[in-house]
Amino acid sequence: MALSSFILWLLFLAAAPLAVVESIPIYVPGSYKSSLKKDVKNAKPKLPYITQYFPQILDHFTFQPTSYKTFYQKYLINSQHWHKGGPIFVYTGNEGDIEWFASNTGFMLDIAPKFQALLVFIEHRFYGESLPFPEEKLKSAKTLGYLSSQQALADYATLITSLKKNLSSEASPVVVFGGSYGGMLAAWFRLKYPHIAIGALASSAPILQFDDIVPWSSFYDAVSQDFKEASLNCHEVIKGAWTELDGFANKKGGVAELSKIFRACKEISSIYSARDWLWSAFVYTAMVNYPTEANFMKPLPAYPVEEMCKIIDKSPRGATKLSRAFAAASLYYNYSKTEKCFKLEGDEDDHGLQGWNWQACTEMVMPMTCSNESMFPPFPFSYKEFADDCKKQFGVRPREHWITTEFGGKRIKQVLKRFGSNIIFSNGMQDPWSRGSVLNNISSSIVALVTEKGAHHVDFRSATKKDPHWLVEQRRQEMEIIKGWLHEYFMDNSQD
Ligand SMILES: *[C@@H]1O[C@H](CO)[C@@H](O)[C@H](O)[C@H]1NC(C)=O
Ligand SMILES: *[C@@H]1O[C@H](CO)[C@@H](O)[C@H](O)[C@H]1NC(C)=O
Ligand SMILES: *[C@@H]1O[C@H](CO)[C@@H](O)[C@H](O)[C@H]1NC(C)=O
Ligand SMILES: *[C@@H]1O[C@H](CO)[C@@H](O)[C@H](O)[C@H]1NC(C)=O
Repeated sequence: MALSSFILWLLFLAAAPLAVVESIPIYVPGSYKSSLKKDVKNAKPKLPYITQYFPQILDHFTFQPTSYKTFYQKYLINSQHWHKGGPIFVYTGNEGDIEWFASNTGFMLDIAPKFQALLVFIEHRFYGESLPFPEEKLKSAKTLGYLSSQQALADYATLITSLKKNLSSEASPVVVFGGSYGGMLAAWFRLKYPHIAIGALASSAPILQFDDIVPWSSFYDAVSQDFKEASLNCHEVIKGAWTELDGFANKKGGVAELSKIFRACKEISSIYSARDWLWSAFVYTAMVNYPTEANFMKPLPAYPVEEMCKIIDKSPRGATKLSRAFAAASLYYNYSKTEKCFKLEGDEDDHGLQGWNWQACTEMVMPMTCSNESMFPPFPFSYKEFADDCKKQFGVRPREHWITTEFGGKRIKQVLKRFGSNIIFSNGMQDPWSRGSVLNNISSSIVALVTEKGAHHVDFRSATKKDPHWLVEQRRQEMEIIKGWLHEYFMDNSQD
């Protein structure tokens, strides 16, 4: 699934088959699209959006005969509250099915009436239904080569321009919204296409998670910090569980025994499956440590990190650290109480995983390590190993410094202080991705809205009656700032 792919790239390297290099297939738009559309209709809950498909150009940056090929890019639109000539709010889609992001970005729907805004959610190329090639051809560099953040931004620019023309609303101001990787795209879009978007709200957007801009251990240190804040004992138990787990590797019948402890549906093939399963539970729970009950990746209670730690703190003293960590992780996988057993292997929802692996192996090189102080086992980052694995999987090596060359990031304060405007970077410190985002105000119009208790783009979720004051306040500030941008835009227009 979408967000899991954004962080699972660290773990994917184990299962990398060698890519088969093929010639570019001739893809006939239309036939493929219609067959997909049927499946989606049956599978998805009803959202208040109309689905459209835009014939998008495959390659914006070369003028080869093949670049003129088009594919169908999906977008969702809601004009219920739009006052013609009023603002257009565009969500710049991330690495996954756009309907999933739309259903988790209720904030835009909540504020549309106040702004009389048109809402548009654009799907990112190579994800969801917006596939330029049939799925079976999406494994080689020949086709995946067209998947990059720059092509995606150019898609958004092209589509928005066409849409405004079709609606005879060229003068409508556009504000872009995005969360996580979508937030990075929103911020970059404002910097690269200021003539198309008047501002960007980038929530939990780790645009600084590249090169050595932030410490490589900051992500896992932040996860650990969440657990430490909940309970020091909880942190220590989890930290100690990994050695106990590793002990099963050298034990006769260890893997079978471990499968039993973890209530695995099927005996696992190695202890690493149990390790990844535990690891993911703690990382995702930290990311979605929301103040209210939510169902983002899985259904979870309010402040799930605290709930996990309560399980650990209340468990019998005689219990091993590993069994206590397992009980805590079960909260993540079984809050619904419906799991008969756990699928430790082969249950990855691989929506978009291939696409994200490609992006991680080309432009999105985000070095991450686990420090000795974190609750995870120490873990180094070797660029060479990473690049070798990418070569094996896709036949290409990453361009390690491309993102900072193309979009910047180093000395961001000094650079953006005198260039650019109208970007909000919103973050919650519970979210480990916050450490790679912009946490300080850069100028009067490039601002950071940071909450101590917020998690992964919590501000983008639909408002609920139980929302704490700081969240209501963060959303109010965002609306206030956007209102200011629009006011300025209409003032400037009326003076020209
Ligand atoms: C705008 O209209 C043209 C012509 O009908 C169509 O091909 C294109 O897809 C439309 N653009 C969008 C964004 O829907
Ligand atoms: C999930 O929770 C239910 C209810 O507490 C429990 O009966 C079941 O055994 C749990 N599943 C697993 C795999 O632990
Ligand atoms: C972590 O601890 C090991 C062993 O105590 C030590 O050799 C290593 O330098 C430490 N690493 C860091 C990053 O502190
Ligand atoms: C940035 O400025 C805004 C006011 O424009 C303020 O509310 C906010 O707290 C500041 N952010 C930080 C991280 O200081």
